[in-house]
Amino acid sequence: MKALTWHGAHDVRVETVPDPRLEADDDLLLRVTATAICGSDLHIYRGKIPDMEAGDILGHEFMGVVEEVGPAVTRVRRGDRVVVPFTISCGECFFCERDLYAACERTNPGRGAIIEKKDARPGAGMFGYSHLYGGYAGGQAEYVRVPRANVGPLVVPPGVPDERVLFLSDILPTGYQAAQNAGVGKGSTVAIYGAGPVGMMSAACARLLGAEHIFMVDPNPYRLRFAAEAWGVEPIDLNECDDPAEFIIGRTGFRGVDATIDAIGFEAKGSAVDTMATTLKMESSSGFVLRQAIAATRRGGIVSLAGVYAGFVQMFLVGDAFDKGIGFRMGQTHVQHFMPMLLERVLDGSLRPEVIISHRMALADAARGYEIFEEKREDCRKVVLAPGSA
Ligand SMILES: NC(=O)c1ccc[n+]([C@@H]2O[C@H](COP(=O)([O-])OP(=O)(O)OC[C@H]3O[C@@H](n4cnc5c(N)ncnc54)[C@H](O)[C@@H]3O)[C@@H](O)[C@H]2O)c1
Ligand SMILES: [Zn+2]
Ligand SMILES: [Zn+2]
Repeated sequence: MKALTWHGAHDVRVETVPDPRLEADDDLLLRVTATAICGSDLHIYRGKIPDMEAGDILGHEFMGVVEEVGPAVTRVRRGDRVVVPFTISCGECFFCERDLYAACERTNPGRGAIIEKKDARPGAGMFGYSHLYGGYAGGQAEYVRVPRANVGPLVVPPGVPDERVLFLSDILPTGYQAAQNAGVGKGSTVAIYGAGPVGMMSAACARLLGAEHIFMVDPNPYRLRFAAEAWGVEPIDLNECDDPAEFIIGRTGFRGVDATIDAIGFEAKGSAVDTMATTLKMESSSGFVLRQAIAATRRGGIVSLAGVYAGFVQMFLVGDAFDKGIGFRMGQTHVQHFMPMLLERVLDGSLRPEVIISHRMALADAARGYEIFEEKREDCRKVVLAPGSA
């Protein structure tokens, strides 16, 4: 079959690789009909995620048609259309029982990313996300093996186009968890840093939860314009305003917003000092947005991190956060927990995640898709690949 494989920083290729097979009794084999490129894939693309091996198949946002099921699969059948969460979870462990699917302690044979790990088990395995997360082949491919098929894949009703439900695999639940972690409710004021797909889904979900005013910060005016039109955010262009937190404080009666969502993560464009610190390996994540988030949030408010962080940051102003009594929530999304409820919201039309799609391509063009998304060319917001189309 054909699949998108990783060979090093900025080197991904569509190649012929061996077909996947069922390995465990509760595996299914999926024929992929739609798969997306995620901002998380860009961290891998830039060579920033350790423990990748040449030839690894990428992709963790995908859906398709069930081709084959193992003898222990009871929840889905051959021929079902399913969307698959990026987290691979057992459904039975201590964490899965508490709906904390991203913390599943049985699906990741890899090391996980925690530095001070001691003897703690790693969190859930993930599709196409390095050997730290289990080395599972990803779904930017014609076919993919889906382990734990009784826990992850969600059957979608016939007739609903792929594009409307594809983002249930990751970014829609991620935006929802970010907004929920932020405590967004009726009348909330929110600042969202990052107008990528995750920032946009966070804006959509914050609106759904009743947010009254949303500020959105990004250096890409075309993304901000789109979000302003789609969800009525107040855009703050980082090229024109180098201290968005100061602007936000001024616009909120000198208090700050109820909550700030960081939808950028460890590769945030930082100040010159942050860039130098990262280059000198004095920090592994840029602290610029964390400092902004603490500054922009009111006393007693919440900072919700949806963007991925790795390692440590310098100049994390813990004293400012303490003085303001700020709460922090963060982490990988417990995708399975949110999928059924969000499918309902998609079907009843209260969420339309597909509006962010700007590029539709054949799988054969996936490498170009990465380039365009990474370089923000052609006003790229989100790339969807259709493996069956060429
Ligand atoms: N928590 C989870 O489970 C989860 C799930 C999916 C994605 N993610 C993470 O969410 C993050 C965003 O993903 P995405 O798909 O939206 O990616 P993206 O790279 O398209 O979006 C990031 C946006 O942030 C902007 N940005 C960069 N530096 C900035 C700064 N200093 N201030 C304001 N904006 C800045 C970029 O211009 C870009 O528009 C990534 O870190 C990704 O790994 C997390
Ligand atoms: Zn993703
Ligand atoms: Zn589990």
